[in-house]
Amino acid sequence: MEPLVEVEGLTKRFPIHRGLLQRTVGHVHAVEDVTFSIRRGETLGLVGESGCGKSTTARLILKLLEATEGTIRFEGRDITRLSAREMRPLRRELQMVFQDPYSSLNPRQTVGQIVGTPFAIHGIEGSTRSKVQDLMERVGLNPEHYNRYPHEFSGGQRQRIGVARALALSPKLIVCDEPVSALDVSIQAQILNLLLSLQHDFALTYLFISHDLGVVRHVSDRIAVMYLGRIVEIGDAGDVYGVPKHPYTAALLSAVPTGEAGGEMKRERIILSGDVPSPVDPPPGCAFHPRCPKARLVTGSPDEVPENCRTEIPPLRNSGGRQQAACWYPLRPDDELQRVVSHEPRGS
Ligand SMILES: Nc1ncnc2c1ncn2[C@@H]1O[C@H](COP(=O)(O)OP(=O)(O)O)[C@@H](O)[C@H]1O
Ligand SMILES: [Mg+2]
Repeated sequence: MEPLVEVEGLTKRFPIHRGLLQRTVGHVHAVEDVTFSIRRGETLGLVGESGCGKSTTARLILKLLEATEGTIRFEGRDITRLSAREMRPLRRELQMVFQDPYSSLNPRQTVGQIVGTPFAIHGIEGSTRSKVQDLMERVGLNPEHYNRYPHEFSGGQRQRIGVARALALSPKLIVCDEPVSALDVSIQAQILNLLLSLQHDFALTYLFISHDLGVVRHVSDRIAVMYLGRIVEIGDAGDVYGVPKHPYTAALLSAVPTGEAGGEMKRERIILSGDVPSPVDPPPGCAFHPRCPKARLVTGSPDEVPENCRTEIPPLRNSGGRQQAACWYPLRPDDELQRVVSHEPRGS
């Protein structure tokens, strides 16, 4: 099937200005050469530590930011350089659910106004009230609360308002940027289940962003793992989660509690040394090499990594499994780093 969204070589560098003359002294390499597609009706999970470029990728796709390089196609059409006016008819097809259900809703508007505004902006005819109340019901809110304000709702209910607003104009793509990260763990599953059932009923396509691989795997058909602006691994959720090829994916997975499965395979933690390096001056070669446990296993020395890891950026390519990984020394089944990851099927 034709993909709904295709990005190719997508790059965003934010200039850093200094001094009286505000000269450009460097760039934040927020997103570098990112290529992927999202098929109709699927959920692509985008995961990685804070600061690795997930939100920037989302904002580029929604054209809230201008790409430095690369192309974005929506339904086969290149939208990379469309002006704000040219984007307007497309706006209703591309929606977003934000992380913080507190700051993303206008406190001075009622639910009716918040969810009804898109209808007014796009000149949709008919009774806004009944449309909004239908939506409220669909996302699990009491339609009688039409005239209430955001502060009268709990965090989970507010996120339902955000979801109703995103749904209002029957979009094709919804980008969910950390939609449950601000919610209590007990509420997270409710919102995730709501998103899944809406996807089924409205044939939605999701780009689902989270720093938490445990959350991403519950909802995703495929998973893309980002590190310092680049995709380091991408493939079917079961493959990425079950038999990761990139040492960074394995490290992220080792931090996810195995939880309810109660399987006999216990995850050991892979200790990642050091913090995420600055995207202003990313390490040369593979940006993960200063923290990579595999690179040290290859040389057999804790202080040394192979030369190609330090000098050449590994391309994203087939690496023995069904997924693609950007690593010169991808994990193999007999790898001790892969053995720490348990093999649970998706959605268990
Ligand atoms: N408008 C901006 N100007 C300058 N730097 C930015 C801007 N937006 C994001 N960044 C930087 O880009 C990098 C990626 O940020 P972001 O996409 O928000 O990451 P994530 O969502 O994965 O946490 C970070 O280093 C962040 O500080
Ligand atoms: Mg973010």
